[in-house]
Amino acid sequence: MKGNDRPIGIFDSGLGGLTVYKAVRELLPGENVIYFGDTARVPYGTKSPEAVIKFSKEIARYLFDRNIKFLIVACNTASSLALEAIRRISPVPVMGVIAPGVDAALAIVPRKGRILVTGTAATVASRAYSRALRAARPDVGVIEKACPLFVPLVEEGWCAKPLAALAAREYLAGFKKKKLDAVILGCTHYPLLKAAIGRVLGPRVRVVDSAHAAALALRSALSCGCLLNKGRAGKEAFMVSDAPERFSQLALRLLRIKTGKVEVKRF
Ligand code: DGL
Repeated sequence: MKGNDRPIGIFDSGLGGLTVYKAVRELLPGENVIYFGDTARVPYGTKSPEAVIKFSKEIARYLFDRNIKFLIVACNTASSLALEAIRRISPVPVMGVIAPGVDAALAIVPRKGRILVTGTAATVASRAYSRALRAARPDVGVIEKACPLFVPLVEEGWCAKPLAALAAREYLAGFKKKKLDAVILGCTHYPLLKAAIGRVLGPRVRVVDSAHAAALALRSALSCGCLLNKGRAGKEAFMVSDAPERFSQLALRLLRIKTGKVEVKRF
């Protein structure tokens, strides 16, 4: 394949990037997509920047070898820590999920508004969101909060269990008095806990999920680069670094995604 029917590569540490995959599939049904979940090494959010950069570059190289035309880093942790390193080795355009999430939040937050950014420990430590938000809009107030138990809860398929609601309360109830305008789900796993998070913060706080914003940004990037696939029914392939059956079952249970056979690539 040489032309626009080459696939879009999407990767995450595990299941979370499927929220981006789903948004891409809905918005761009003609595109072929390869999804990679690094299930052998999830979570990334507790790892060092060096480890996240190494894992991300390995997966990116693997996807380049599969002849992708565009790469989406559908992981906030990898987007915070490894985006530049991936771009340096990439033969194709690369997009992370932070810029689309920042744009989506700033579009709805009033002047001098307040934004809470939730994410993994590594994403929060990188300050990638604070820097991007304040560079674009110095008037907004930004608070960042790491919620490290959210990813294992999602990877366990426990999004609707009382433990998920309890974790959300424990991490976020203290922010109710902060007069927030929006919360950014700064981890692609977190949209699966949107209901629990929204319940704690209340209806006044807008929940920004960067998956849809990333899909919109992808569509305009493909269109600007004359890379849109004119086909009708795009195909998808799912790949993981370990435990393909578990990935497939959880994708179906949590996101109603039928993966078909999931390939395994070990690093
Ligand atoms: N879903 C990823 C993110 O957006 C990574 C979570 C993790 O592996 O810790 O940050």
